[in-house]
Amino acid sequence: MRIVGIETSCDETAIGIVASGRRIFSNVVSSSLARHGPYGGVIPEIASRAHVETLWEVFAAALLQAQVAPEDLAAVAVTQGPGLPGALHIGLAFAKGLALALERPLIPVDHLAAHLYAAEMADPTLTPPYVGLVVSGGHTLLCVVHPEHRFELLGETKDDAVGEAFDKVAKLLGLGYPGGPVIDRLSDEGVAGRITFPRGHTKQPFDFSFSGLKTAVYHYVEKCAQGSRLKAEGNSLEPRVLNLERQNIADIAASFQEAAVDILVTKTLRACQRTGMTRLAVGGGVASNRRLRSRLAEEGAARKLQVVFPPPELCVDNGAMVAGLGFPLLAQGRTAPLSITSDPNLCLVC
Ligand code: KG4
Ligand code: ZN
Repeated sequence: MRIVGIETSCDETAIGIVASGRRIFSNVVSSSLARHGPYGGVIPEIASRAHVETLWEVFAAALLQAQVAPEDLAAVAVTQGPGLPGALHIGLAFAKGLALALERPLIPVDHLAAHLYAAEMADPTLTPPYVGLVVSGGHTLLCVVHPEHRFELLGETKDDAVGEAFDKVAKLLGLGYPGGPVIDRLSDEGVAGRITFPRGHTKQPFDFSFSGLKTAVYHYVEKCAQGSRLKAEGNSLEPRVLNLERQNIADIAASFQEAAVDILVTKTLRACQRTGMTRLAVGGGVASNRRLRSRLAEEGAARKLQVVFPPPELCVDNGAMVAGLGFPLLAQGRTAPLSITSDPNLCLVC
């Protein structure tokens, strides 16, 4: 049974076709990233415009790659939320049109649940219940994924998402957008132990906080800039930072990454221990981070945990994870009428 999955929650226009929840026939992603670069972050109107312009092309490419006709599709799964309101609306409208024309069921999918389901696609031995860690540009949360993909939220970020912290620190260091992949690479050249940044204290054991860490990096960079006696230009530290030595920037990047990963690993292992779960899935853009992957793999193995990361192409926003999760949801009858609306604030509904 082939299901098409449509994903337009942010700046990726993505469509995947997946059979029986696991077998990927196609996974086509068109990103408007380059158009947002000059602004240092995603501009919602530009993202929406790009979805309108490219959805048909991406759908045609997904059919071609999968070597199927529209009539071969058994159902239409689509991201209902969370995400940018305009962007979600466009993807849902497209999905409704397809469901109506093909007379197929429409399956609304939670974007965060799909990020975690990507781990189940990567490793068929991973089945609920398990602990889920979602780390993306908009979200950072820990949950328990119960059978039938029902979710229990354990904790979430009280301020910035971890991906957002990577992006902001990268901007501060003059490394461009998106910052996560650049910091990941540049950290190889840095000494992670050179600067000790704070690990973000929270009242609740499974909540996260990254704004203190981000501010600490800001103050450290400002101190370095003052030390080099360069003049401030407006509110941005960027022009001054560019005058720092490459080694200095790499050390800051590596030390920041170490602190961010430390926060994630500590809370995640605590969640596994306290819930008694022996399986862990990690999903979202930051799940591509090599330091996070190696530390969780190593420390998870030491505790006899099964730790599953999706491959990088299933960590970024993509349509295959939406189509994949559509399969168990369809089996449970979790379809929706064409009158449903998108929900920008949706968060792992049970
Ligand atoms: O899940 P995603 O593609 O989009 C959202 O749903 O937000 O995540 C995007 C985020 C960005 O903040 C990006 O900087 C971050 O994931 N990211 C990374 C890495 N690759 C992407 N962060 C750290 N290390 C990486 N290798
Ligand atoms: Zn995402």
